[in-house]
Amino acid sequence: MIDDSSPLDPADWAGFRAQGHRMLDDMLDYLEGIERRPVWQPIPDAARAAFREPLPRRPSSLAAAHDRFMQDVLPYATGNVHPGFMGWVHGAGTPVGMLAEMLAAGLNANLGGRDHMPIEVERQILHWMRELFSFPESASGLFVTGTSMANLMAVLIARTTALGYEVRRQGLAAGGRQLAAYTSEAAHGCVRQAVDLAGLGGGALRRIATDGRQRMDLEALSAAIARDRHDGFTPFLLVGTGGTVDAGAIDDLAGLAEVARRERLWFHVDAAYGALALMAPDLAPLFRGIEQADSIAFDFHKWGQVPYDAGYLLVRDGERHRASFAAPAAYLRRETRGLAAGSPWPCDFGPDLSRGFRALKAWFTLKVHGTAALGAAMSRSCALARYLEQKVAATPTLELLAPAQLNIVCFRYRAAEADAVNAAIVADLHESGIAAPSTTTVAGKLAIRAALVNHRTRQRHIDALLEAVLRFGAARAKA
Ligand SMILES: Cc1ncc(COP(=O)(O)O)c(C=O)c1O
Repeated sequence: MIDDSSPLDPADWAGFRAQGHRMLDDMLDYLEGIERRPVWQPIPDAARAAFREPLPRRPSSLAAAHDRFMQDVLPYATGNVHPGFMGWVHGAGTPVGMLAEMLAAGLNANLGGRDHMPIEVERQILHWMRELFSFPESASGLFVTGTSMANLMAVLIARTTALGYEVRRQGLAAGGRQLAAYTSEAAHGCVRQAVDLAGLGGGALRRIATDGRQRMDLEALSAAIARDRHDGFTPFLLVGTGGTVDAGAIDDLAGLAEVARRERLWFHVDAAYGALALMAPDLAPLFRGIEQADSIAFDFHKWGQVPYDAGYLLVRDGERHRASFAAPAAYLRRETRGLAAGSPWPCDFGPDLSRGFRALKAWFTLKVHGTAALGAAMSRSCALARYLEQKVAATPTLELLAPAQLNIVCFRYRAAEADAVNAAIVADLHESGIAAPSTTTVAGKLAIRAALVNHRTRQRHIDALLEAVLRFGAARAKA
């Protein structure tokens, strides 16, 4: 007789439910009290070592595993939910998004395909994104891990458009042409990686010089295209940036759209964190021209505050998008009735067949908060960046390294050996738990880079950052 119970469902549902409520309460307590914690703290060697253990062959209780999480994992997380987190470009998430993740995990839906309501939720997000970006009804969209993946997919669609669908059977040899793509020097490194992974070689990407505000120089762009045509290359793709990672610069997207039209290039916009600023009426005009893109890559998990991960690719010509990825297989046969209906499926629009329910946390975030509140949080980040910029400019021991654009400020403490001193200041800030900016290099100088993405950050957190930079800077400069 085969055992009749599931070995993985709780034997005691009442006890499990009580434990589940404790776990939920712990996370709500964590979020409610986040400001009382350090932004980040180093993992003690003992905690790191204690976590290493052999593959568990025997069960342990959920309560025991939860205790380990509370003790060894939760205190040593990245810290991007904390208002003092200002590094890289990390969203903070929201309590609403957290609950949505729990519901999605409960359904355990696979959004690769088939006919079920979770896919309709993802389609609803597509409707909303078409509306936000003024894209046509024929536009397609897909949740992916992040903008790195969305950019790669956009490059693949552009490549297939340039070389013809035959390239999917014969490979790059089918085209018999050397393709060239264009982006600015300030573009994110994943754009080059995408061109490389698309089989074109990273060298096929021309990095065009930028102006004083880190925006792509349109004359240099046109000259590079002309030079490539003269040398026998086939220009095929132009990648604009809507919010550069270093400085928050936004390319002249309308100008780029014009060049792309004239030169018959696929116009892709990497607006990883900036795109959703279209929800903020004061920021939306900065992105004028994005509505003319052939494709847009962006992340809900950055300024959109949806929990990781929730990248998105929006493509104007949905049929071209589908034809660049669809790969029929007998076991994915479509029907007109039953669960196998509902074609085309999301798996026809990208490389993933198994796909989680990312759409639900985006749907909850948009539905519960609305675009006005999300946009207001973005506007406030930019106001805080201007406040930080003014404070830096008014402090003689600090140097502003680039004008604040959007929500990013790059500055540093003035000192001999300034690169080493500022790198040390940033590490001091992290270890103090006061604030977590990151570093970058601006015009050859190491900068403290504050990217204000977190909806919880307030003026007092900027003040705390500055006070600590001055204190650590004075100590480091003396040492
Ligand atoms: C402009 C830009 N593009 C691409 C990326 C990569 O996005 P993701 O980390 O979601 O892959 C980033 C990340 O910060 C970015 O700022």
